[in-house]
Amino acid sequence: MTTTRTRTLGTTGPQVSAIGLGCMGMSGMYGEADRAESVATIHAALEAGVTLLDTGDFYGMGHNELLINEALRTAPAALRENALLSVKFGAQRGPDGEWYGFDGSPAAVKTSAAYSLQRLGVDHIDVYRPARLDPDVPIEETVGAMAELVEKGYVRHIGLSEVGADTIRRAAATAPIADLQIEYALISRGPEREILPTLRELGIAVTAYGVLSRGLISGHVTPGQEYAANDFRAHSPRFQGENLQHNLALVESLRKIAEQKGVSVTQIAIAWVLSQGPRHNTDIVPLVGARTRARLDEALGALDVTLDAADLAAIEAAVPADAAAGERYAPAQMAMLDSER
Ligand SMILES: NC(=O)c1ccc[n+]([C@@H]2O[C@H](COP(=O)([O-])OP(=O)(O)OC[C@H]3O[C@@H](n4cnc5c(N)ncnc54)[C@H](OP(=O)(O)O)[C@@H]3O)[C@@H](O)[C@H]2O)c1
Repeated sequence: MTTTRTRTLGTTGPQVSAIGLGCMGMSGMYGEADRAESVATIHAALEAGVTLLDTGDFYGMGHNELLINEALRTAPAALRENALLSVKFGAQRGPDGEWYGFDGSPAAVKTSAAYSLQRLGVDHIDVYRPARLDPDVPIEETVGAMAELVEKGYVRHIGLSEVGADTIRRAAATAPIADLQIEYALISRGPEREILPTLRELGIAVTAYGVLSRGLISGHVTPGQEYAANDFRAHSPRFQGENLQHNLALVESLRKIAEQKGVSVTQIAIAWVLSQGPRHNTDIVPLVGARTRARLDEALGALDVTLDAADLAAIEAAVPADAAAGERYAPAQMAMLDSER
C-alpha cells in the first residue's frame, strides 16, 4: 500500500505523511522490542510513504536515536531523503532509566540538540520540541534558544508537547510553532476543550500520540493481559483492574462497528483521529506506535477507511467523550502536564 495523503504541520511547518511513525516503543517503553524488526518496521514505513518519524533523546537514553540512525543508514537513499525527524528533548534520566524531571534551559536546549544530531547522524532536526514544560524556565527562554538553533540551521521547525493554551500562546509569540504533540484519541478528548481551538486560531498543527491509548483501544488487549514491571502499561491507571474491564467493554462496542465496516478496531480508532482534522479545521497527524511490520500494516490500513457522519455518530455513541475509566497517566506524571492545568 502506498500512503499518498499528506498533511502540513501548521502554517509554517513541513508537509508530512498523514500518519507518522512513533518509534518510542522500539526502545523499551512497552517491554522488550526486537531490534531487527524495529529497523525493518522503519524501512517498511518509509517504503509505504510514511515520512514523519517521531523520537525523543530520552527514549532508551539515546537508544531510539541510534536505532533511527541505523535504519536511515541502511535504507535506500531515496527513502532516507524523504524522512523528517521529530525529536523531543528535556527529560532528565539516569542510567537505570529513572526520571528526574525536565530541563528547558537554553543550555540544555543546545546541548541536547548537539548530542541528538550526533546520535541521529544528521545535520539538522526537522521538528525539535521540549517533551514537557520546565516549570522553572519561562517558555520564552526555551523557545528562544530553539529559535537560535533554527537561525543556525540545526533545527528547521519548532514544536511543543503536552502544553496548555497559555503556554502555546506565549511560545507562538516568541517564534513560529509548527505543531503541538499531545495525546488525542477517542478516549482522550481533553484537547477539544481549549487546546484545539487555540491551535486553530494560531495556525498550529497537532501530532497526536496515544491514538490507540497505548494499545488499550487497539482491539488486541485481552482482559487478563499482564505486563512486565518496566512496561508503561503496568502502571497506567487505564490498564488496572476495574478500569481495564470498563475500558475493554468500550472496545467491544467499537468492535461491532469495525466488524460492520469490515475493518479492525485499530483502524477505526486511527481513522477517527484522522477524521478530526477537517472537523476542527486543524491538521491532525496521528503518530502510530507500531514496532512490528504487522502492526504497521494494520495501522496504515486506517488511511483507506472512510467514515461518514453516521459512522462518526455511531463511533462516538459507542465511546462517548469522557467514557474512559482512569487518567491517561499515573498521578506523578499527570502533575507534569501543563496541558492538564
Ligand atoms: N509527546 C509525548 O508526550 C509522547 C508520549 C508518548 C508517546 N509519544 C510519541 O507517540 C508515539 C505513539 O504513541 P504510543 O506508542 O503511546 O501510542 P499508541 O499508538 O496509542 O500505542 C502503541 C501501542 O499500541 C499497540 N498496538 C496494537 N495494535 C497496533 C497497531 N496496529 N499499530 C500500532 N500499535 C498497535 C502496540 O503495543 P504492542 O506492540 O504491545 O501490541 C503499541 O506499542 C510514540 O512512539 C512516541 O513517538 C509522545
